[in-house]
Amino acid sequence: MKIAIILGTRPEIVKMSSIIRECQRKKLDFFILHTGQHYSYEMDKAFFDDLELPSPKYNLDVGSGSHAVQTGKIMEGIENILMEEVPDVVLVQGDTNTVLAGALAASKINVKVGHVEAGLRSYDRTMPEEINRVVTDHISDYLLAPTGNSKKYLLAEGIPEEKIFVTGNTVVDAVYQNLEIARNNGDVLKKYGLTEKNYLLATVHRAENTDDSKRLRSIFTGFEQVYQDLGLPILFPAHPRTVKMIKEFGLSVPGGISIVHPLGYLDFLQLEAGAKLILTDSGGLQEEACIMGVPCVTLRDNTERPETLRVGSNLLAGVDSNRIFEYAKMMIDKENTWDNPFGDGKAAEKIIIALE
Ligand code: UD1
Ligand code: UDP
Repeated sequence: MKIAIILGTRPEIVKMSSIIRECQRKKLDFFILHTGQHYSYEMDKAFFDDLELPSPKYNLDVGSGSHAVQTGKIMEGIENILMEEVPDVVLVQGDTNTVLAGALAASKINVKVGHVEAGLRSYDRTMPEEINRVVTDHISDYLLAPTGNSKKYLLAEGIPEEKIFVTGNTVVDAVYQNLEIARNNGDVLKKYGLTEKNYLLATVHRAENTDDSKRLRSIFTGFEQVYQDLGLPILFPAHPRTVKMIKEFGLSVPGGISIVHPLGYLDFLQLEAGAKLILTDSGGLQEEACIMGVPCVTLRDNTERPETLRVGSNLLAGVDSNRIFEYAKMMIDKENTWDNPFGDGKAAEKIIIALE
């Protein structure tokens, strides 16, 4: 069996890493195709280095662009490579433009598609990610669902049960495989003048938050209220998209909040594990916080990770500054008594078995 692993963004590198390792361990015939959707060192190569992953065999270098331009360029590049390589199956992970383009290009030339992290739904079609995941699920041959809940959503959309495999989420594999390595990788907290459980960690990058000045401003006001009341510093490693929009809107960063460059995975994991609370609109962070026992407040109106709400690790605040403040106060001392709903850290093994 020949497997093409398609990836293009930071979270895909993290969440494909255990699958790549499993392919190496089983000596399978596979190759990595990078679309180049993310390309800055700190959004791309830093992750290959930290996770000690083999370099991609191909990089399409598509870079940034509108949805149609980016998706179109990726499809064209992928089609050429797949025609030459003729893999038995293409694996895509998550909900980015890379995923949609990879799944579409492969399925149209009758190459089987495995969708890792299938069946997530926010039921909000204004999000580009929701469109990407719905379309990808419906053209995939192997729906590698992280939880029973995601399987339930797929069945409700009429996807045949025999195509669905509940595997757990590979984000758990990544946390389990790397947390210890991260802890031995130098003291990143010290570098930022922080001490364990005496700071908050924040990320914001979702288009609906960054590209709307009112929403982004309201998030900052919420952070300011949190800092003034709790007195704990907020470290904010900012996605390039967010940095660009802060400049464009001329927003000033309130005191107590330190905006820094995006961090490598090992440093970032350490900072997540050491945080008292996480404030985020990231999908991956909602999961990682839950897995590592750190309470989370999500800066969105909905989530495709309802498991985190159900177990009590996460609250949905949206972007209203008062609500961010109230929910942060509610969650800050929340004890970690919840179970991790995302699997046992063996998702990659189960995914490869499903393909075999
Ligand atoms: C994409 C995904 C999003 C995912 C996120 C992970 C889509 C539609 N969105 O959003 O679901 O959560 O990746 O981080 O696929 N930029 C750089 N350097 C880079 C990459 C991006 O400077 O390496 C800047 C560019 O200004 C670019 C902007 O960030 O225009 C947005 O990048 P893009 O890949 O379009 O979307 P993300 O916001 O990264
Ligand atoms: N991450 C990182 N450094 C950062 C921010 C995030 O290593 O500065 C990791 C994080 O641990 C998680 C992934 O990137 O594994 C999440 O990516 P992102 O939030 O960009 O995307 P999403 O999960 O929302 O699609």
